[in-house]
Amino acid sequence: MKIIKTINELRQWRKTVDSVAFVPTMGNLHAGHLALVREAHQHAENVVVSVFVNPLQFGQGEDFAAYPRTLQADAEKLQNAGVAVLFAPDDKELYPNTTQAFNVEPSALQNELEGKFRPGHFRGVATVVLKLFNIVEPQIACFGKKDFQQLVVIQQMVAELNVNINIVPVDTGRADDGLALSSRNGYLTETERQQAPQLYAVLCNMKDELQKGRRDFSQLEQQAVEKLNNQGWQTDYVEIRRRSDLAHARPDDNQLIILAAAKLGKPRLIDNVEVDLS
Ligand code: PAJ
Repeated sequence: MKIIKTINELRQWRKTVDSVAFVPTMGNLHAGHLALVREAHQHAENVVVSVFVNPLQFGQGEDFAAYPRTLQADAEKLQNAGVAVLFAPDDKELYPNTTQAFNVEPSALQNELEGKFRPGHFRGVATVVLKLFNIVEPQIACFGKKDFQQLVVIQQMVAELNVNINIVPVDTGRADDGLALSSRNGYLTETERQQAPQLYAVLCNMKDELQKGRRDFSQLEQQAVEKLNNQGWQTDYVEIRRRSDLAHARPDDNQLIILAAAKLGKPRLIDNVEVDLS
């Protein structure tokens, strides 16, 4: 595996190969990321993984400085996973100017759900992902359903900006107790870690209620928020949405998704569960 730190070197390497699948990450890799790498191998001869903690997508007071940077361990995992290139630029390489003047402006979806609590987040994500796409020039790129709104924003970006890259969604990797794998799980204390699967459990419970025929969406959402808050969470949102574009769900929609974000102590966790009512 090559470890490449500059755009120039990446472009030189890119000229020597044909088929490339790409997995963008912020590192601190876990089994969820590695499932994306496995999926990527199904689609191309060469897999490129980027590790870059993107300052543009972190808000004031968020964990940019504290975000775990574990490049050595990440490189070992990627080497074992048969990755051709680990692209790990530093901040100056991707943002040589002090400000990024040109940005990708996502649709109004950027102000809902996660976007409501993280202003500017999806602009930062879309901008860095388009930059990485322009550098790596893959035919396909894998994104996790764990960050479902991010996946939808990227799908909308490639569609509306005619980016010639196939976006492949990958199912959420979970621990045995149901907790969605995340680099931020490392912030949980031991007691919080034991309690953390409650988030997924509450979403699964809502899915059961929907499958039993309930369509009182707001009441279901409110009950879930109360349940989490009573268990000690500070819930930002629990929302039932239409899966294709994350519009507000209507009673006759049958491809739904329930998305949630909540804080347990300091760490903020997100999760979602897809619901098929057809
Ligand atoms: P990061 O949080 O490192 O995630 C990288 C990719 O791994 C994303 O597509 C994310 O959805 C996926 N992923 C994370 N946890 C997962 C899990 N438990 N199961 C399946 N997939 C999982 O998402 C980002 O980085 C950044 O926003 C990025 C797209 C790299 C832009 O900076």
